[in-house]
Amino acid sequence: MATHLLDLQQLSIGEINDLLDLAQHYRDGGPLPDCSGAIVANLFFENSTRTQYSFQTAEERLNMRVISFVPETSSLQKNESFYDTVKTFDSFGVNALVIRHSENEYYNDLVGHVRAAILNGGDGTGSHPTQSLLDLLTIRQEFGGFEGLKAVIAGDIAHSRVAHTNYDIMTRLGMEVVMSGPKEYMEDRYPYEPFDEAVATSDVVMMLRVQRERHPDGTPFDPARYHREYGLSAKRAASMKKGAIIMHPAPVNRGVEVADEVVECRRSRIFKQMENGAFVRMAALVRALES
Ligand code: NCD
Repeated sequence: MATHLLDLQQLSIGEINDLLDLAQHYRDGGPLPDCSGAIVANLFFENSTRTQYSFQTAEERLNMRVISFVPETSSLQKNESFYDTVKTFDSFGVNALVIRHSENEYYNDLVGHVRAAILNGGDGTGSHPTQSLLDLLTIRQEFGGFEGLKAVIAGDIAHSRVAHTNYDIMTRLGMEVVMSGPKEYMEDRYPYEPFDEAVATSDVVMMLRVQRERHPDGTPFDPARYHREYGLSAKRAASMKKGAIIMHPAPVNRGVEVADEVVECRRSRIFKQMENGAFVRMAALVRALES
C-alpha cells in the first residue's frame, strides 16, 4: 500500500512531529537514505514555482529520478482527462506522484486506482499539506514549539488552501489562530480579529496573497487601497510583539499585502520558509517511499 500525503488531517500529531524531526535532521546535514532507485513524477496542473521546484530540489538531493510534466505540451491539449493523465504516469511504474490541481480533493478519484504514492502539492482551495509542514518547521525553529502561540492569518482566507490547512493543524497543535483581512474574504467558521489588533498581539503574522485567479471575473480590486487597509506596512510591522515573526507562503505581491521593505526585514521568515520547504519535502518523499 502506498503512503499518500493528501492532507494533514490524516496524520496524528506524533506523525507530524516525526516529519518535522526528519526535515530538521536533513536541514542539519544528517545522512540521507539511498533513494536512487526511485522515480518521481511531478504533475503540476496549476502554476507553481516554490512547491514544484522545491519538490524537485528535494528529489535531486535524494538522488531520485525526476519526470516533470508540462501540461502545455501534453495530451491534455488533445482533451485527455486529468484522471487518464495521472493513470498514464502510474502505469509507467513511477514510485511517487506529486500532484497539484485546481479541483478540491482531486485525489479522491485517484486513491485506490493508482499504485504510486500521491503527494498533494495543493488541491484547489482545499489543502496544502507540505506548505503547512514547512510553516510549522519555521515556527518550531523560532519558538521551540507551538502550544500557547498566537497566529493571525491575514488576507484572502476564503480562497486559500494555506489558510485552511494551517488553521486546522495549528489549532490541533495548541495554537490560537485568528483570521483577518477584508470581510468579503472571511469565512464564518473562523474567529475574526481586526487587522491592527491582530498584528500587534500575535507571535506569527502570516500574510496571504489575494488570489485573484480564483475570484469571479470583474471583482474590483484596488492594490493601493488594499495595502492601506490590510497591508503589512513598516509601521504596522513595528507594532508587532517582541520576537514575533512575519510569514507568507509566497508568491508575494510586494507593496500590496506586504510592503516591499518588510519582505526581507529582520522579522521576516519568508525566505527561510522556502529554505525549509525543500527539507520538508525530502521528509515527505522519504515517508511516501518507505512503505
Ligand atoms: C500558495 C499556493 O499555491 O497555495 N503558494 C505556495 O504554494 N507557496 C499560495 C499562493 O499562491 O498565494
